[in-house]
Amino acid sequence: MKAAYIERYGGPERLTVGERPTPSPGANDLLVKVAAASVNPIDFKLRDGKIKSMLPYALPLILGNDLSGTVHSVGAAVTRFKPGDRVVARLAKERIGAFAEFALVAQGDAAFAPSSMDLIDAAGLPLAGLTAFQALFELGQLQSGQTLLVHAGAGGVGHIALQLGREAGARVIATASEKNRQRCLDLGASEVIDYRRERFDERHNVDVVLDTQGGQTLLRSIAITRKGGHVISISALPTPEVARAWNVAWPLRQALRFLTRRERALAIKCGVHYHYLFMRPDGAQLAELVRRVDAGTLRLLIDKRYPLDQAAQALAHVEAGHAAGKVLIVP
Ligand SMILES: NC(=O)c1ccc[n+]([C@@H]2O[C@H](COP(=O)([O-])OP(=O)(O)OC[C@H]3O[C@@H](n4cnc5c(N)ncnc54)[C@H](OP(=O)(O)O)[C@@H]3O)[C@@H](O)[C@H]2O)c1
Repeated sequence: MKAAYIERYGGPERLTVGERPTPSPGANDLLVKVAAASVNPIDFKLRDGKIKSMLPYALPLILGNDLSGTVHSVGAAVTRFKPGDRVVARLAKERIGAFAEFALVAQGDAAFAPSSMDLIDAAGLPLAGLTAFQALFELGQLQSGQTLLVHAGAGGVGHIALQLGREAGARVIATASEKNRQRCLDLGASEVIDYRRERFDERHNVDVVLDTQGGQTLLRSIAITRKGGHVISISALPTPEVARAWNVAWPLRQALRFLTRRERALAIKCGVHYHYLFMRPDGAQLAELVRRVDAGTLRLLIDKRYPLDQAAQALAHVEAGHAAGKVLIVP
């Protein structure tokens, strides 16, 4: 099968499109004929080798973390899906490989694709949607009437978080550049702050923040969150607690303890619950997101589709940092 893979870590030139063996499904797996995969920033961070100490992979490695497609064949223990079913999934982090004509999905990680939208565009939902869902509801415990601040409201994760927040009855503030103001308002933001010209710090007593930027944005976000509120970063370094849960080696855990000291100390000082999230696949949560798409309360912004041959350009587009919604690779 054709796939986009790396044999060594490095820059865009390391991504090769060529032939790789088609994987065989294990007992609990679906072999999916990929309709499309979405590009997520983790794809170029993996390609660079920047996160290989947290996520060690054997090379060569086919990149790509989430997909839409049609079930081609199933393992002997698969009961929920059959050949021909249209599905979406975030692949297990230990076994990625969506930038290909075929990919393996554990049946527990898959959900039936939305019936109300194009199967290709549905590839934009799994990773970004699950991230937003887990951040707002599992960690942020977002409630109706609360104020939610979403950084990068027009981004892959942000544009979904805005809509989930609005549907939950929260007042949603988004940061975005001027060109994305109307997009964010249309998706449910009550207020949009142009992060290039305005400081968001004038808002106070925010209940929940979804931080997609890390660094100063994260620290300034903690400072404006009310006592007892939640700040969830998906872009900072993992906390030592998360690293421990991942069985990361002790020296790296100590390094993370040091490197994350500022945000953890500020959160303690402000009485704010600070969480680092690394999202996980979850077929049941994904089915709930699909339900919302089909009910018309959640829509996906698709910035651009690229053919598999142009996978490197697709990654470069996202790496430039200004995608509006999701970028897709179509094999
Ligand atoms: N930990 C996890 O599980 C997890 C999961 C998903 C994503 N992430 C991380 O979360 C981050 C966001 O992911 P994504 O897929 O949403 O990225 P993305 O779609 O590539 O984000 C692009 C958006 O970021 C906006 N942006 C750029 N600089 C900004 C700033 N300083 N302040 C506010 N907005 C800014 C851009 O808006 P303008 O064009 O208007 O500038 C653009 O709309 C990445 O670092 C990614 O690795 C982590």
